[in-house]
Amino acid sequence: MAYNVDIKAPASTKKKQWRLATEMADSGRAPFTHAGFVNIPSYRGSTIQFADLATLDGEKPVSTRYGLQTTPLLDALREVLTTLEGGEQQLAKGCVLVSSGLEAVTLPMLALLNSGDHLLVTDGAYTPTHKFVERMLPRFGITSERYDPTDLGKLEKLVEGNERCKMIWSESPSSQTFEMTDLPGLAKIAKKHGVLTAADNSWGGGIAMRPLELGIDISVQSATKYVCGHSDSMMGFCVANSDELVNKMEDARALIGIYNAAEDVSMSLRGLRTLALRYQAHGEAGLTICDFLAQQPEVRTILHPAHPSHPQHAIWQRDCHGTCGLFSVLIEKKSRAALASFIDGLQLFGLGYSWGGYKSLLDISLPQGFGRKCLADVPHDRWLIRFHIGLEDCQDLIEDLRAGFARYRQAA
Ligand SMILES: Cc1ncc(COP(=O)(O)O)c(C=O)c1O
Repeated sequence: MAYNVDIKAPASTKKKQWRLATEMADSGRAPFTHAGFVNIPSYRGSTIQFADLATLDGEKPVSTRYGLQTTPLLDALREVLTTLEGGEQQLAKGCVLVSSGLEAVTLPMLALLNSGDHLLVTDGAYTPTHKFVERMLPRFGITSERYDPTDLGKLEKLVEGNERCKMIWSESPSSQTFEMTDLPGLAKIAKKHGVLTAADNSWGGGIAMRPLELGIDISVQSATKYVCGHSDSMMGFCVANSDELVNKMEDARALIGIYNAAEDVSMSLRGLRTLALRYQAHGEAGLTICDFLAQQPEVRTILHPAHPSHPQHAIWQRDCHGTCGLFSVLIEKKSRAALASFIDGLQLFGLGYSWGGYKSLLDISLPQGFGRKCLADVPHDRWLIRFHIGLEDCQDLIEDLRAGFARYRQAA
């Protein structure tokens, strides 16, 4: 490794392993090495001053040699995030911090694939993931192919059909269309053929789902979403089930020069303290709103894995410990003006991308979505609306939507 950062899951000095909400509230703190402050102070800085020549030479250990490498604040965040994705059960061996969720997707590919390797990517992946894979990776001699996340039989044939296949990228549920992937089944196929597996776990958030528990090698998240939880900072992170994978990703982080500003790190740490509570509230409100939406005659399909009508609901029941508040619906298409009267008249739902914050949002998916088949397959007489349910009172959100559907019904 170029740098000497201790990115491994900390050996716990605690006598007892607590439940996840308690771990999120309590871990990653060291009040009595920080003058009693409950939170780790915001360390900002580039230069680290060495006590003497022997320390500069590396003869004496130091916790960091440069601001880019780590700070006590980054160490604390890594500790809590490792725990979130399974560190306490020794599943996650360490955490690598990056500047955005998109970078959490691209770093494992850059760190672990070589020229000549082949990557299989779920059609359900976040559209910028496809853009990176198809526009950037070929410059490094890495080829790729998309797979249908609901057909593991075909996926296995793709793995068998290409001996250069080195990694399977998954995202369950899929962005916008929310298909669930059988991740334990996918992991089994990959292990049989000696292929690495990685999952974008931004939806599962470490609360509803922990991919490493399901046999996946690498889990990544956009911390911009539920971890931060307030739409006021951007970050991402990667965890893995072996020291070797974690070290390779940390090495790539150092080689690329990825930096995390102290303010963003503090925002993520603050968000983690209330994550379990918020995530559950988003999830419960989301399901209540799905029940309301299901009663609207214009709503034809609910695309929410925790909703009993979802085609892969059984996978969600088996592999998840809850749900967040992000899902889509297909509604009967009317004119663009009718859609505008529905959306523009909403008082509580904002129109915008990203999710995981306190504010309820919606957006409309366009079928072209960088050639994603699952989006192209949306019937032409439907709009696909994605909802992120925030932390407003659920009954107020329902009233806002009820008025919106009334406007939609009246419009031509
Ligand atoms: C599933 C998923 N992964 C990754 C990202 C990228 O996260 P960020 O916005 O932090 O770059 C997003 C953003 O919307 C996302 O929805």
